[in-house]
Amino acid sequence: MRLILLGAPGAGKGTQATFIKEKFNIPQISTGDMLRAAVKAGTPMGLAAKKVMDAGGLVSDDIIIGLVKDRLKEQDCQNGYLFDGFPRTIPQADAMKDAGVAIDYVLEIDVPDAAIIERMSGRRVHPASGRTYHLKFNPPKVEGRDDVTGEELILRDDDHEDTVRKRLAVYHEQTEVLVGYYNQWAASGEPGAPKYRRIEGVGPVEEIRDRAFAALEQ
Ligand code: AP5
Ligand code: ZN
Repeated sequence: MRLILLGAPGAGKGTQATFIKEKFNIPQISTGDMLRAAVKAGTPMGLAAKKVMDAGGLVSDDIIIGLVKDRLKEQDCQNGYLFDGFPRTIPQADAMKDAGVAIDYVLEIDVPDAAIIERMSGRRVHPASGRTYHLKFNPPKVEGRDDVTGEELILRDDDHEDTVRKRLAVYHEQTEVLVGYYNQWAASGEPGAPKYRRIEGVGPVEEIRDRAFAALEQ
């Protein structure tokens, strides 16, 4: 299984990625998680990326494309992969097409902007694994602690309301065009064209998981 999860910030890409990667036994390639790891490691690229991320902007296509191409060379990508938060621009999508990176499904998770702000302010993450919780909608078993490791959960630096609004605007300006891009490719009938599936992303997490699994069976 080789798929792209497409959706606005806070649509639940990371949350659903956890279920999908387990079901299909594939790695989750989250460019956001990769960038946050670089920030934590304090690499020059990480330090430059942090400024852009905290402002709600997009890191340059060259950096992102390089990161993903390197990641795809690793052994665990041979059986498939799940892209989470990538591609996010037409040049990123074109770079994958030009490199012949195969895609079976593009799965769009649709959530209205109004629901996103509440989701983000209540989000808590386990930085080491990227596991994601919500104070109200998806609380951890023990308050403030990761279910698996018991380690502390944190608020992401880019989850403050102003930054979330900027990220949503950037999504509509630069990423939403990929809905049309992939729909067109899917409809083209070209060999190797992916299937395009769209699911409603509002509702209980498990219901959306079941919608996602059903969509990936058709
Ligand atoms: P990234 O980490 O990719 O962030 P994002 O796309 O903005 O998406 P999020 O991680 O915020 O949301 P999500 O859809 O994963 O939702 P989640 O499951 O966590 O990118 C961060 C930054 O890095 C970017 O702004 C950019 O600067 C840079 N970057 C990354 N990739 C890049 C690229 N390709 N090109 C350029 N720059 C790039 O859920 C959100 C919350 O909602 C959680 O609290 C969750 O528990 C809760 N929730 C989930 N499902 C439900 C539900 N059904 N009902 C209620 N609550 C729910
Ligand atoms: Zn995410």
